[in-house]
Amino acid sequence: MSEIFIDGISRFWGPTRALEKVTFRVESGRFAVLLGPSGCGKSTLLRIIAGLDQASDGRIHIAGSDVTDMPPAKRGISMVFQSYALFPHLTVAQNICFGLEVRNVPTAERKKRLDEASELLGLTALLDRKPSQLSGGQQQRVALGRAIVAHAPVCLMDEPLSNLDAQLRQEMRLEIRELQRRLAITMLYVTHDQVEAMTMADQVILLNGGRVEQDGTPDALYGTPRTIFAARFLGTPPMNVINLSPEGAIEGSGGPPLADGRGDHAIGIRPEDIRVTAAGRIGARVETVEYLGADTLVGCRVGNQAVVARLPGRAGFSAGDGVSLDWPAERQHMFERSTGQRIDARNAT
Ligand SMILES: Nc1ncnc2c1ncn2[C@@H]1O[C@H](COP(=O)(O)OP(=O)(O)OP(=O)(O)O)[C@@H](O)[C@H]1O
Ligand SMILES: [Mg+2]
Repeated sequence: MSEIFIDGISRFWGPTRALEKVTFRVESGRFAVLLGPSGCGKSTLLRIIAGLDQASDGRIHIAGSDVTDMPPAKRGISMVFQSYALFPHLTVAQNICFGLEVRNVPTAERKKRLDEASELLGLTALLDRKPSQLSGGQQQRVALGRAIVAHAPVCLMDEPLSNLDAQLRQEMRLEIRELQRRLAITMLYVTHDQVEAMTMADQVILLNGGRVEQDGTPDALYGTPRTIFAARFLGTPPMNVINLSPEGAIEGSGGPPLADGRGDHAIGIRPEDIRVTAAGRIGARVETVEYLGADTLVGCRVGNQAVVARLPGRAGFSAGDGVSLDWPAERQHMFERSTGQRIDARNAT
């Protein structure tokens, strides 16, 4: 069992609050993604869990033990840093095996793990080079290798794929996920990339300004976002959040009421849930058309609000066209504008 339990962690840098009462649990063997925009506190939290930094308040439990006051080496974790933190004077092979040597892992076992990791990461031909002789993406893979050979029950990764090209990134995502499953590692993986979160995670912990905005499965965050922030952070293009007039119509449209008349409410609708037709419920004008190959983004104006629809294939509309928009009622989300909180019936989940 190697569960991670983060209990009320706060971190202040002088008056600046980097983390505020962050609490969540990652069950043993699960892949959790810590997601959030730049500066929201992801690296700070990871460093605190690893024991490289102290929290101002709160406790860290790993595998049922309170490790808050333990040194990093005693916590049973491996970590991949956002900056690779490689030793410049050691070769790739020495960098990867450094931790194993320190822990007196026998030579044969060291060799076996090095072979396995360098094969997996495509580093076999580079084992005798120094970090300064590697590209950024290669250095990043060495940092990954060091975590992989550790075989620690808990692994922390801070944006480990940020310097790889799109194709390698895609491959490495699958490899990391497969490795994590095979070794039953409890993973806490930091990224600001929502696609990475959606495709890799069993559990997504979304941070915003040092607080947990939402904690749940990718499905739950995508399908039932608890706030406007969460609704717009996952999904590209993001969910449309449309202000309503006091009559409950789309602001400035004079159209039909879409909800009980509440001027402080906004509705949310995902681009792929919108139908665009010649004649329908909500009158709109097409402003932009972006053809992406598999689908087309149609940017429309309804009253004084902008609404983006995602349609399959070539949509067959042009800028300036008068169209109608519609969507199934059960696809519509409802938020309170002032607080950004979800207020519709699915609130409970
Ligand atoms: N040593 C420090 N001294 C003062 N403030 C710091 C320090 N380290 C981080 N911060 C601040 O704490 C906040 C969180 O930083 P952190 O590095 O955890 O963000 P992040 O979510 O990892 O961002 P990114 O996605 O850009 O890596 C930021 O506002 C940052 O400026
Ligand atoms: Mg960071």
